[in-house]
Amino acid sequence: MPALTIVDREGRESTVEATAGLSVMEAIRAAGFDELLALCGGCCSCATCHVHVDPAHLDRLPPMSADEDDLLESSEHRRPTSRLSCQLPVTDALDGLRVAIAPED
Ligand code: FES
Repeated sequence: MPALTIVDREGRESTVEATAGLSVMEAIRAAGFDELLALCGGCCSCATCHVHVDPAHLDRLPPMSADEDDLLESSEHRRPTSRLSCQLPVTDALDGLRVAIAPED
């Protein structure tokens, strides 16, 4: 099982086991991080699953779709490392991925 390191909004870090086949958003929610609201349930229409990815890990992620890019544009907390976690499938290749939950917009 790939392990993900999640940093919450207070800066607390936790490493969790993630099930391949889920999205990173689902893995974060399953690990009990309720502050990642994920209001649309993962259909790329709310941006409340926004995370900041460790810059060293960006090249391990799939490319961003135009829809994801548009939604992130609406966030005041967008950074070059921003992604919507519902758009990131958990795979073994993501083992060790570190993401921080972005501040609420
Ligand atoms: S959960 Fe709504 S965009 Fe990701």
